Amino acid sequence: MRSITVAVLFCTGYFLLSPAFAHPWREWTRLILTHTWPQTFCNVEQCKTNISYWTLHGLWPNSGNMCNSSWHFNESLIKDILPEMEKFWPDLLMPLSSEFWEYEWLKHGTCAAKAESLNSQHKYFSKALELYHKFDLSSVLRNHQIVPSEEHYTFDAVETAITSFYGVKTKIQCIHPQKGGQVQTLGQIEICVDQDFQLINCEKSSKEVWSNEILLQSDPVSGHSDLSVCDHSMPVYYPPVPHRW
Ligand SMILES: *[C@@H]1O[C@H](CO)[C@@H](O)[C@H](O)[C@H]1NC(C)=O
Ligand SMILES: *[C@@H]1O[C@H](CO)[C@@H](O)[C@H](O)[C@H]1NC(C)=O
Ligand SMILES: *[C@@H]1O[C@H](CO)[C@@H](O)[C@H](O)[C@H]1NC(C)=O
Repeated sequence: MRSITVAVLFCTGYFLLSPAFAHPWREWTRLILTHTWPQTFCNVEQCKTNISYWTLHGLWPNSGNMCNSSWHFNESLIKDILPEMEKFWPDLLMPLSSEFWEYEWLKHGTCAAKAESLNSQHKYFSKALELYHKFDLSSVLRNHQIVPSEEHYTFDAVETAITSFYGVKTKIQCIHPQKGGQVQTLGQIEICVDQDFQLINCEKSSKEVWSNEILLQSDPVSGHSDLSVCDHSMPVYYPPVPHRW
């Protein structure tokens, strides 16, 4: 009798644990909503844009990458939200192309889709837009007097504006100056949510091991490989739309 109980417990444990063991990428615990400052992006990539609000870069699970290569992107599945996608999630390099969305879907969306709440292209892209509007990063900065300007800000002013509003730690990334430069340029801001889409700190907790993939992440399609966490002691440039763009 006792040995049967032990065997049952053992098997139950095995079946509960084994999927996670076999496919560690199945389980993500948070999503990273990544925002791009288009003027900084275009300084690096040599594109031109007059967009003066933060745009979406992606909605990334903290674990997993290219989870289902046979789940093809199909623009007609998100037809109703295309105008919003074009406005708030633009491909700054190729404004008329859907390649950027396709890339984000295949790399990150197919992994996010492990959750029922995100298990279709329409759910995935609409949720990203919904979170983007809810967090409204451009307004949060503006309301704290952080606006694109030729004047520089302290990093502390930028961080305080963001943290005091959201109440969680975000990841604020800059392009660092060339050797000898004194100013870093604000480029990307990541806001993190848990599986229920509630705000949480972006930094890893001791309970959690982040995948290397996320820590080293740089999406080649969207460049930005030279972005890294801003330096706390260096002034920040938040570039405005050039007068003649
Ligand atoms: C930005 O450029 C687009 C396309 O050329 C134009 O339609 C739009 O009016 C411009 N917006 C601003 C604020 O200048
Ligand atoms: C991958 O996506 C295809 C197409 O949507 C689907 O039929 C298949 O079940 C998916 N595979 C997995 C492992 O989720
Ligand atoms: C894309 O989705 C539409 C609508 O569901 C469908 O009719 C079409 O066949 C799909 N296209 C491809 C290439 O799968």
